[in-house]
Amino acid sequence: MKDTRTLLVTGGAGFIGSAVIRQWLADPALRIVCVDKLTYAGNVESLKPVSDSPRFSLEVLDICDAAAMRALFEKEQPDAVVHLAAESHVDRSITGPGEFIQTNVVGTYVLLEATRAYWRQLTADKQQAFRFHHVSTDEVYGTLGDEGAFSETTAYAPNSPYSASKAGSDHLVRAWHHTYGLPVVTTNCSNNYGPYHFPEKLIPLMILNAIAGKPLPVYGDGLNVRDWLFVEDHARAIRAVLERGRVGETYCVGGRAEKTNLEVVHTLCDLLDELHPSSGLHRRLITYVKDRPGHDRRYAIDCAKLEAELGWRQQESFETGLRKTVQWYLDNGDWVRGVTSGDYRRWIESNYGSRSAS
Ligand code: NAD
Ligand code: DAU
Repeated sequence: MKDTRTLLVTGGAGFIGSAVIRQWLADPALRIVCVDKLTYAGNVESLKPVSDSPRFSLEVLDICDAAAMRALFEKEQPDAVVHLAAESHVDRSITGPGEFIQTNVVGTYVLLEATRAYWRQLTADKQQAFRFHHVSTDEVYGTLGDEGAFSETTAYAPNSPYSASKAGSDHLVRAWHHTYGLPVVTTNCSNNYGPYHFPEKLIPLMILNAIAGKPLPVYGDGLNVRDWLFVEDHARAIRAVLERGRVGETYCVGGRAEKTNLEVVHTLCDLLDELHPSSGLHRRLITYVKDRPGHDRRYAIDCAKLEAELGWRQQESFETGLRKTVQWYLDNGDWVRGVTSGDYRRWIESNYGSRSAS
């Protein structure tokens, strides 16, 4: 038995994947291979805190590349796969759904097949200990009315190209367990926020626009509700499910922090008034814009199963997590400048040539 476990983390240069890697590498029993295509959403700067670790390596690969995935399994002999690689932004899925089908559906299929080919030649003990952890979203359940919450038994009803592609990937993962016996677990999580979040998503976009004195674009009436979870708490939930979750099960992960978008933006403005005062109150920058097509009205997660079975509890409240997040963006001008100027693409361009922003 080797004393370190090797994990393949796909999408590890993204927002949540990089939080997983930074957090989990504190455990000396883990070796992590980050598998990432470095699309516009992948940023090696987010992995800087761990890049010197001898237990970390980066493989710049596309999960849709079957030969590359097979060779990678052969080379790394992983004990588990934690699959986060995806196209993740709903607005982009509306204007260009093709890449979402390719990475989220086809890519997951390719990865499952590479995993299965590797897994079936392992010894019985290793086969049993192996895990394929699929990281998914609450958006597969569609939208809620004023009452109730999504749970593991909620019927799938995805409404956007993004959520439909994630629902497709969830079904593939489930089928690879039922048909081939692959030991899988799936988590469906609500909206994450925290450091290193790409500023196309609500919270980082609002923070950076407010700091720059630019308009804060609120879609529709601003009363759509999301359930917010600090990204480090999500990383701890994934670890709990990977280590102790029951094979073949899904676990919902959420923050019990339902907020309208307007409440989120108001709170951010008030925090910035305190931490980064400007000549006027930041709320003056709020601008109502055209709504997102098919905009889901409300998400909320009942995470009682995860809490009861695995003892997971979030450590950060929305108030403490949001304050930390705003402070992080104020303190990390280099990361922010790299992303906003486009300089964060330099590493991939100098190592691999220029790529399209897919
Ligand atoms: P992200 O967009 O920040 O990162 C995605 C990463 O995947 C990037 O590093 C990108 O380069 C990589 N990637 C994309 N296509 C790839 C490909 N074909 N091959 C290899 N790598 C590829 O996304 P995120 O917000 O960190 O989300 C990670 C996962 O968690 C996704 O599967 C998403 O659906 C899920 N999720 C996200 C949230 C959220 O609030 N952000 C909530 C629940 C679930
Ligand atoms: O619920 C989990 C999902 O959360 C993840 O699966 C997705 O990957 C992640 O992007 C996120 O999806 P959302 O669509 O909820 O996140 P986004 O930050 O894009 O939007 C949050 C809410 O804010 C949503 O109701 C739309 C609104 N919004 C968003 C932007 C970018 C605005 O009002 N203005 C904006 O400029």
